[in-house]
Amino acid sequence: MVSRMEPLALPASPLTDGVVMMRLFEAADARRLAEILADPAIQSRNHVAPPGDQPGALAWIQEGLDDLRAGVRCEWAVCDARTGMLAGRRAVKIERGRHRRAGTGSWMAAEARGRRFAPRSARLAASWAFQKWGVQRIAAECDVDNLSSYRALQAAGFAHDGVLRSYAVAADGGRRDQHTFSLLPADLTRPAPWERPAQQAAAG
Ligand SMILES: CC(C)(COP(=O)(O)OP(=O)(O)OC[C@H]1O[C@@H](n2cnc3c(N)ncnc32)[C@H](O)[C@@H]1OP(=O)(O)O)[C@@H](O)C(=O)NCCC(=O)NCCS
Repeated sequence: MVSRMEPLALPASPLTDGVVMMRLFEAADARRLAEILADPAIQSRNHVAPPGDQPGALAWIQEGLDDLRAGVRCEWAVCDARTGMLAGRRAVKIERGRHRRAGTGSWMAAEARGRRFAPRSARLAASWAFQKWGVQRIAAECDVDNLSSYRALQAAGFAHDGVLRSYAVAADGGRRDQHTFSLLPADLTRPAPWERPAQQAAAG
């Protein structure tokens, strides 16, 4: 049970950069979401992923909508802007207090990976959170051996702040060290790799 804050303001139409399109989850997404979540990579890497079945997916969608109304968390459905196909999820969770911090996390369907959906959705969500929710810092973590997530966060413009020892509990009950990253409003003023000329982007 969360104590109430203001509901989080949302754009009048889906957020999009022309490649990804972000909207709220709906009950009708439960079936596709359950298929995505059944992937062992998501279950092992996203330590708080809901179960990969339809009732679990539906309950998770409802919980996200409740948290949105309570002003604590926004769960965006990340879709392919061209086809509308649900590709994954991007979350922003607002921290309480005066520090204006938030955290973000994501997963993408196996067949949607490697298309920069995670970093693109991170930048769109961050831009909205900085401009509309007064957030000043967004943190993200991933397991120390999760290279894909590390690369996706780098591509989004996050800075690597260090390693948090024994930070998360995995599904197998074991504790995991995690990389910790942060994104500040100024980081979004630097172009993402897909916005830079090819040579510059290759140099990282
Ligand atoms: C981590 C994750 C969210 C990244 O999303 P994404 O949209 O694929 O991100 P990107 O397209 O920026 O790819 C990130 C890196 O993964 C690589 N990659 C990983 N799996 C890939 C695949 N199946 N196909 C192509 N590239 C893949 C990319 O090449 C890229 O590395 P590069 O920068 O060296 O080119 C996604 O891979 C995922 O959901 N993985 C499983 C669960 C998970 O790890 N969740 C995150 C927990 S912190």
